[in-house]
Amino acid sequence: MVVGLGTGRAASRFVRELGARVRSGLDVRGIPTSRTTEALARAEGIPLVSFAEVSTLDLAVDGADEVDPHRRLIKGYGGALVRERVVAAAARRFIVLVGPEKLSPRLGARCVVPVEVIPFAAPPVRRALVEFGADIRLRRDGDGIPIRSDNGNVLLDAGFGPIEEPEAVHAWIRELPGVLDTGLFLGMAERVLVEGGRDLAPGTAG
Ligand code: A5P
Repeated sequence: MVVGLGTGRAASRFVRELGARVRSGLDVRGIPTSRTTEALARAEGIPLVSFAEVSTLDLAVDGADEVDPHRRLIKGYGGALVRERVVAAAARRFIVLVGPEKLSPRLGARCVVPVEVIPFAAPPVRRALVEFGADIRLRRDGDGIPIRSDNGNVLLDAGFGPIEEPEAVHAWIRELPGVLDTGLFLGMAERVLVEGGRDLAPGTAG
């Protein structure tokens, strides 16, 4: 199997478990969604491949920051949202692992929406988002330096409050020149496994 390896705490737990299985003989190859996950997967002994070698993944496993009852997600607090979407979109199955604190009646109620922007376009994108009504923060590290994604871009965290139509908001932001992607992952997760045993699968009320 070729498996997409997500980024963050939940995904890292999965990568460590997968590493243990690989060391016991499981035949699997991984595509990591960030440099951090790549380093972890290498340390765990998981063979890695790239999109130059494979076009489709059997499965992608990742975490999320907020999940609504329709398995729509906000992702990207770890700054890996662009590669996370590339990997999830190429996977036949996309499985999400979260703690119960991530469940939310409506996206935006507990999280901001990360937006990855090329640095050159950050000021106009920021102004457009503010005009749209969002509260915008440029993501910075502990020393106040703007954080760069693995792709060399900056992240604007957009606070909307509860979002009525996430599909429309996602589409509108994606159209802004210089925006690479948003953290709204809509209609992508096949299952959301919640720590403690809950399983938001198709056909469940959520
Ligand atoms: C990384 O960019 C994110 O999308 C993570 O998947 C998300 O932040 C969940 O991370 P945790 O499992 O650490 O909460």
